[in-house]
Amino acid sequence: MKIGNLNIEGTAALAPMAGVSDRAFREICFDYGAAFAVTEMVSSKALTMQDKKSKELLVISEKEHPCAAQIFGDDPEIMAKAAKKAGTFSPDFIDINMGCPAPKIAGNGGGSALLKNPELISKIVREVRIATELPLTVKIRIGWDQDSINCTEVAKICEAEGADAITVHGRTKSQMYAPPVNYEMIKAVKEAVKIPVIGNGDITDIESAERMLNETGCDFLMVGRGALGNPWIFRKLNAYFSDGAVLSDPTVEERMEQMLAHIRKLVEYKGEYIGMREARKHSAWYIKGMRGAASFRQEIGKLEHIEELEYLADKIVKKCR
Ligand SMILES: Cc1cc2nc3c(=O)[nH]c(=O)nc-3n(C[C@H](O)[C@H](O)[C@H](O)COP(=O)(O)O)c2cc1C
Repeated sequence: MKIGNLNIEGTAALAPMAGVSDRAFREICFDYGAAFAVTEMVSSKALTMQDKKSKELLVISEKEHPCAAQIFGDDPEIMAKAAKKAGTFSPDFIDINMGCPAPKIAGNGGGSALLKNPELISKIVREVRIATELPLTVKIRIGWDQDSINCTEVAKICEAEGADAITVHGRTKSQMYAPPVNYEMIKAVKEAVKIPVIGNGDITDIESAERMLNETGCDFLMVGRGALGNPWIFRKLNAYFSDGAVLSDPTVEERMEQMLAHIRKLVEYKGEYIGMREARKHSAWYIKGMRGAASFRQEIGKLEHIEELEYLADKIVKKCR
């Protein structure tokens, strides 16, 4: 797939996930073959006001390319300034968030709220397009609610204003994250535009990935929750779609080793206090489905130091081997 002049190899990208797809997780997913990644969403307003936390979210390391910087907001001028600013953090492209349903974002006119205002979408994409020479993508949902599904119109507007690709999460804003995914509407977007369409929603394994590709005809895949505690998904999808190989699941030892490597990275990048607090959710995802997971989760909820997690990982390996 090509996003503007950018060549994208592979099968699936890591979705932007606020509070999850940070630098540590993105690097790990790249190690396992993610084709590209997108930063957590960054407020255009905060970024243009030099907010330190927003700038930290945009730090992209050497090991994670191609990576997009994602911005959100509802003011075309501020979005344009933010795109320019985001471009100074060396992303490979800029992504505009038009899908976030969170009240804090959509309640202020950004994210999925933009879907209700195609004219504003047009202005935002136009201004951002002018502001940056980097390739530009837009991530949308299929509409605000069941009665206002308008993804084909939105996608055509984005294309006309210069977007280089569109990611479609196959749900309305009202559906939040609940199944089902609407493959028909992703297919309709694919048929409506010439730029690449990236299909997103509930891809958790080979079967669901194949379903997304077959039912929508989309050009590429994006995986969000299916990668939580499961960065191996990218390796599996690549192996299957490149030569039909079905790789086996990682062993408990491998899972625990990867979990520890992930949390060590988190602590390195964010310090022990924040890193170990964020480690709690990631560790719980890594042990999901394992024997005794419920009791381990209680211990995980109290983690303060990496040594406690090392001890726990050892216990889990002994119990589940
Ligand atoms: C915890 C969480 C945080 C998310 N944050 C963002 C975000 O910052 N920007 C964005 O465009 N989408 C965000 N999303 C939506 C995902 O990118 C994706 O579209 C959605 O989860 C559906 O894909 P999945 O079924 O593969 O998870 C988030 C989703 C989750 C679960």
